[in-house]
Amino acid sequence: MQLFMDTANVEEIRRMYEMGFVSGVTTNPSLVAREKQDYTDILRQITAIVEGPISAEVLKEDAPGMVEEARKLAAIHPNIVIKIPLTAEGLKAIHQLKTENIATNATLIFSAAQALLAARAGARFVSPFLGRVDDMSNESLSVLADIVDVFALHDLNCQIIAASIRSPWQVVEAARIGADIATVPTKILEQMIHHPLTDIGLERFRKDWEEAQKSL
Ligand code: G3P
Repeated sequence: MQLFMDTANVEEIRRMYEMGFVSGVTTNPSLVAREKQDYTDILRQITAIVEGPISAEVLKEDAPGMVEEARKLAAIHPNIVIKIPLTAEGLKAIHQLKTENIATNATLIFSAAQALLAARAGARFVSPFLGRVDDMSNESLSVLADIVDVFALHDLNCQIIAASIRSPWQVVEAARIGADIATVPTKILEQMIHHPLTDIGLERFRKDWEEAQKSL
């Protein structure tokens, strides 16, 4: 399973990208709003750092408007993938963009039925929102497992991005179930990196070494 960063913060992306595990980035209007910068500028900066798919989301809700916005975003860089919400208008836009060779990521997906529609309409990625399913007291991992099973059974040419990730455990479960990608907020990536036993072990190695140096 690949790891994408779910953020629009360029400094966070720069810092994490150096560690070598980041294969792409996803953004959304809420994440961009936090940065208080022009969206196009942010996307240009991200594409200069990351070699891999960078998802940029449309704001219009009608198909012609989404397609028009998508064309402008796609012109920023060949790695830009257009995030389109899974609505009837969104499916029309995904279908049209496929004919123009513009890659799409169907977003705000909460069921295997929605994921199947997006894949059939021509989306390159689908993004089931795990955390938000759990927030509604439903079980997100069974939704993800259904999507993985259906896509594999019918050999659908569409990658599954586990999104709305809330914990390191959810990342591991998404990998176990067979998601192609998990898009992970920076805070959760930090939690994945750090472990208290690693810190304790490092401290013990340092102390043992320093003690041994004194008796040389
Ligand atoms: O990638 C989608 C993600 O940004 C949504 O996450 O935490 O707002 O549900 P969240």
